[in-house]
Amino acid sequence: MPETPSFDLEKIKQSSDGSVTSMASSAFNEIVVNNPYFAAGGGLMLLGTGLAVARSSVIKSSSFLYRQMLVDLEIPSKDKSYLWFLEWMSQYKQRSSRHLSVETNFVQHDNGSITTKFSLVPGPGNHLLRYKGAFMLVKRERSGKLLDMTNGTPFETVTLTTLYRDRNLFSELLLEAKEMALKAQEGKTVIFTSWGPEWRPFGQPRMKRMLGSVILDTGVADTIVTDVKDFLTSGDWYHKRGIPYRRGYLLYGPPGSGKTSFIQALAGELDYNICILNLSENNLTDDRLNHLMNHIPSRSILLLEDIDAAFNKREQADDKGYVSGVTFSGLLNALDGVASAEECLTFMTTNHPEKLDPALLRPGRIDFKQYVGNATDDQIKRMFLRFYEGQDELCEKFLEEYHKLDMESISTAQLQGLFVYNKRDPISAIKSVKSLKHPDNSIM
Ligand SMILES: Nc1ncnc2c1ncn2[C@@H]1O[C@H](COP(=O)(O)OP(=O)(O)O)[C@@H](O)[C@H]1O
Ligand SMILES: [Mg+2]
Repeated sequence: MPETPSFDLEKIKQSSDGSVTSMASSAFNEIVVNNPYFAAGGGLMLLGTGLAVARSSVIKSSSFLYRQMLVDLEIPSKDKSYLWFLEWMSQYKQRSSRHLSVETNFVQHDNGSITTKFSLVPGPGNHLLRYKGAFMLVKRERSGKLLDMTNGTPFETVTLTTLYRDRNLFSELLLEAKEMALKAQEGKTVIFTSWGPEWRPFGQPRMKRMLGSVILDTGVADTIVTDVKDFLTSGDWYHKRGIPYRRGYLLYGPPGSGKTSFIQALAGELDYNICILNLSENNLTDDRLNHLMNHIPSRSILLLEDIDAAFNKREQADDKGYVSGVTFSGLLNALDGVASAEECLTFMTTNHPEKLDPALLRPGRIDFKQYVGNATDDQIKRMFLRFYEGQDELCEKFLEEYHKLDMESISTAQLQGLFVYNKRDPISAIKSVKSLKHPDNSIM
């Protein structure tokens, strides 16, 4: 009888705990654990997998948390509030930034002197700030590749990140930044000049010029101011009749009679800004003029200086290919094309009205013409008394001396020069009245 295989159960029990699994586990131990190569590799593998799983779950959960608990606000450089925010942040105390960039305001004054002001604004990179108890991460990024085609500068964005519960602070912060920016302009006139195809503020906002400080012939200033104010309150009238809501004013007359100064003072009076374009500027083309005139910042007077310059040029590019100035038809097209819902107040100046083409004087292009000339006796008196208050007798004497010179006329700018030179001394102003006749001999 064949022997039935018999298991020595006792032995099995002893050698291991008597279960079949423990046999397997001892075999596993034998192969895996006691084998140094496999043990090392397997351990690492397990560790690696474990870490990877942990890492991805940390990432997942943190991005989940991020999405749940944090909010971002992106401000692109195209947006108005972008500069407001940078300016606000540069003045905000509770922040830490290690990257600053400089923004230089460079102004060349009429007398040739130069003022520069550097403001340190947060540069590209990360900054941390604490606003009303909440932490905010500010990230300013510059896109290296994308260019803003309108002005050739790289696109930038500022991203603010904060906790979800503090999200309301974003609008508070932006409002504060806006108010700060507008406060800096309060009581001032912002002058815009063209910068490529767009308008940029030129220098710091200037103190408003008082309307009374520009002395025009009797009634002239009042007539213009009344007309402008009437226009600005007639929006409905224009819209109901489908007429473009715009009005063009032409001030003409000799240089130094106060045309530009008056328009600046008028802007101050109306609480408007000014966009100045000089048509004799060389790199101004018809296209740019048209674009600029259709993108005027709101509440601004458009001031076109030297419009006669457009009448010398039939062609824009000469045979050498230089582009120069605006053509007459370009000016007409631009004037006709302005089609904004808001009012458009255009002032033009020229020293040579005789050069203007009658086509320009059509209503809709120029609706109001005013001659601003050299000083009349009345203007001379008012100017004298503005500089030397209460000196009525000396004023008569000054006028007498002036008439003795038997000059045809004199510009208000020249008079101002004389009075400024003799700031506190009306008598010496009277003595040096002769210098008006020979301006080259200086005022000595
Ligand atoms: N009528 C005036 N009243 C006060 N200042 C004047 C007057 N006319 C000229 N001026 C002064 O002369 C300078 C040049 O004036 P501006 O307005 O540029 O003249 P325009 O534009 O007619 O050539 C300015 O500094 C201005 O203050
Ligand atoms: Mg002028």
